[in-house]
Amino acid sequence: MPSLNDIRSTFLNYFAKQGHEIVDSSPLVPRNDPTLMFVNSGMVQFKNLFTGVEKRDYQRATTAQKCVRAGGKHNDLDNVGYTARHHTFFEMLGNFSFGNYFKEDAIRFAWELITEEFQIPKERLYTTVYHTDDEAYNIWKKMGVPEDRIIRIATSDNFWQMGPTGPCGPCTEIFYDHGEHIWGGPPGSPEEDGDRFIEIWNVVFMQNEQFEDGSMTALDMQSIDTGMGLERVGALLQGSHDNYDTDLFKALIEASAHATSTDPYGDQNVHHRVIADHLRSTSFLMADGVMPSNDGRGYVLRRIMRRAMRHAHLLGAKDPVMHQLVPSLVQQMGQAYPELGQAQALIEETLNQEEVKFKQTLDRGLKLLDDELGGLDDDAPLPGAAAFKLYDTYGFPLDLTQDALREKGREVDTDGFDAAMAEQKAKARAAHVGSGDAAEAALWFDIAEEGGTTEFLGYDTETAEGQVLALVKDGDLVESLEEGAEGWVVVNQTPFYAESGGQVADHGIISRLENRGDVSNVSDVHKFADGKVFAHKVTVGTGTITKGDAVALDVDHERRKAIRANHSATHLLHEALRDALGDHVAQRGSLNADDRLRFDFSHNKALSADEIARVALDVNAYIRQNTAVETRIMTPDDARDIGAQALFGEKYGDEVRVVSMGRANTGKGQNGDTYSLELCGGTHVKQTGDIGVFVLLGDSASSAGVRRIEALTGEAAFTYIEAEAKRAADVAAALKAQPSEIVDRVKALLDERKALQNEVATLRRELAMAGGAGQGDGPEAKEINGVKFLAQVLTGVSGKDLPPLIDEHKSRIESGAVLLIADTGDKVAVAAGVTDDVTGDLSAVDLVRAAVGALGGKGGGGRPDLAQGGAKDASNSEAAIAAAEAVIGG
Ligand code: ALA
Repeated sequence: MPSLNDIRSTFLNYFAKQGHEIVDSSPLVPRNDPTLMFVNSGMVQFKNLFTGVEKRDYQRATTAQKCVRAGGKHNDLDNVGYTARHHTFFEMLGNFSFGNYFKEDAIRFAWELITEEFQIPKERLYTTVYHTDDEAYNIWKKMGVPEDRIIRIATSDNFWQMGPTGPCGPCTEIFYDHGEHIWGGPPGSPEEDGDRFIEIWNVVFMQNEQFEDGSMTALDMQSIDTGMGLERVGALLQGSHDNYDTDLFKALIEASAHATSTDPYGDQNVHHRVIADHLRSTSFLMADGVMPSNDGRGYVLRRIMRRAMRHAHLLGAKDPVMHQLVPSLVQQMGQAYPELGQAQALIEETLNQEEVKFKQTLDRGLKLLDDELGGLDDDAPLPGAAAFKLYDTYGFPLDLTQDALREKGREVDTDGFDAAMAEQKAKARAAHVGSGDAAEAALWFDIAEEGGTTEFLGYDTETAEGQVLALVKDGDLVESLEEGAEGWVVVNQTPFYAESGGQVADHGIISRLENRGDVSNVSDVHKFADGKVFAHKVTVGTGTITKGDAVALDVDHERRKAIRANHSATHLLHEALRDALGDHVAQRGSLNADDRLRFDFSHNKALSADEIARVALDVNAYIRQNTAVETRIMTPDDARDIGAQALFGEKYGDEVRVVSMGRANTGKGQNGDTYSLELCGGTHVKQTGDIGVFVLLGDSASSAGVRRIEALTGEAAFTYIEAEAKRAADVAAALKAQPSEIVDRVKALLDERKALQNEVATLRRELAMAGGAGQGDGPEAKEINGVKFLAQVLTGVSGKDLPPLIDEHKSRIESGAVLLIADTGDKVAVAAGVTDDVTGDLSAVDLVRAAVGALGGKGGGGRPDLAQGGAKDASNSEAAIAAAEAVIGG
């Protein structure tokens, strides 16, 4: 009997032999659809190939596509466990032709695979065609299918559409007759809803495109899209009509029975079915980046988890169950979907935490439910207020309460539930609007309440499609933004990060899907209404943006890459600082921009050169370690228990993201411990090596007791290093040295310069003494009033050189007075000396004052034997000498 793994391989290999490219399943969260919650069929990832917008280097493809139908339009959640074929997660096998082969080959391939490869007996097969599709009818006839087994169907069952718009077309379906022992009739008959005739393959002839205004056109290209549920065909090939009887499901059901010490079959089977199905959807969703949360996709995930957890509870499980089953799932499906094994630890941990948390309120919630029901008439619905209390206080999603009531044949008053929910929202809004700019806040709350909330996809993707929910210009709601206008765009889902936690907002473009030319630039993104609404600040470049438009959102990739590297480096820096300086280091603020990072932290003195070097070395060592960066969701208390760094004074919600990176091998950490563990909502690199390189620019004081470090990473750091290297090379070239010799060379030059300066000073003095060139008229003394007087005007000599010159002149003339005027360019230094034998009659101070006065200056002073002064202008030195002579002349 072939296993589901065998059947998947047989299908893919058959089509590979027919020239099809085996393409990986796309992730469950669609990137290329504005409104689809989860990928729900194989063709989603190829949507743009059918319309011709996108081209790839193959025209034939085959896939096993992961699909989730829980939430949104296709929601099978409520039926799972109670029927033979409903799943929240399933695999769709498909083959695709993009303008290559059409009806004839598609039908032939399907028939050949089913009847020859899978050896399903022909007499058990029926086919349907769209009532007007004679071509398909005739092809089936040609294949040998008897006419009474080709059924024309006029309803939408045989005209396939992915959604309200997009590629679509008539289809042909293949049915399997499980036999008379099961009730039901062939397709189109009144009994068609029975379990006897089961559709196993849908082959869609993509030949039309449906538009929003209701019109439908023929596509230029004729294409094929098919879908066969692996679980269904698996059941059939394994001799059952129940998908949960297949090898894969039996393994999961038995694992569930083992973990709960219960009987896999019998009465308890329904619980195991729910658990097995929900284990698959929750694990695959987490492997594709969805994390439990209180809105959007994360909430659908949480609802599914909690539903499974209640069924584990019904089986009497005391301890968390779900995480124990993950290894069985990885064993069954890990080879076909490697992402499952890669995320195994994260999935197990998250399931365990969620189950521990949910168990804390489950008993009390179920008791409340019983108490409420006890007070009601036997078939009265549960009042909405009670269902809301279960939701709000005990974490029971509405569908979980409904599931619990279903077993008792009862319902919830959903209108009452909605009213209670609306009342709570109104209160939250009133509380929020009461603070800050009320009018502005109210506008965003209005948007949020009218369904204008945004799901953030940017942890996993930088491009996505979304739908415009609201437009705001100058504080008012508008219907559209015209070319050149500035305003805010709210979209149902976005990859754009809104400024928060020190990380700057993403930039990028928003363009209308219908006409990719209509492009707006996004220059900022803010979160409003308690973080529920993401508003993109745009300037419309060309065309217009209108409410309701489907748009493509593209984050500026290079910029995000740089921001991400800076943010992750900040975490490593924080830890390196704690290692180097001590545990008192706590974050006081940060900026993670595209061009740099800034980190403020408590520490009260400047870092030494050694400390800076060590921190930079550590950060770079953890970058080179290149370990994966991991993100987990937990309660703030749990996060603190595992030692995650939280921002001082920050208020955290019920749930926080904890980002961890690095395996400690420095500082206080034990080898192998997680190095950095922080509460953080930002975006991060996948591996620390993606940061590239870290350059610490410096440390400065930010405020009292707070230091600030600025640093660069990645390309900016590299550019900086290169610029520094270039500068060093230029300096080295100018110094005629190697870069490594610069320091020694500069030291040597400085020493040399000092020696030369001394030498020049000595030479100048000698020159002055010798009355050499440029030093005035030569130091010849004249006699005035019986006193020898020597006066000289000097250039190139500084004021401090004058006293020793005066001394030398004094000893040369032996007795008398000396006056020196040094023109240093911007000022004039004056000095006078009188030999001791003359000081009784003549004071050097008087000589200097007279000379300085003649030079337009003032003052001067010293002792009778040596005095100094200064003036501005040397042009009157003749007069200055004359003034001194007059003093001597008496
Ligand atoms: N896209 C088609 C389906 O989902 C094949 O049934």
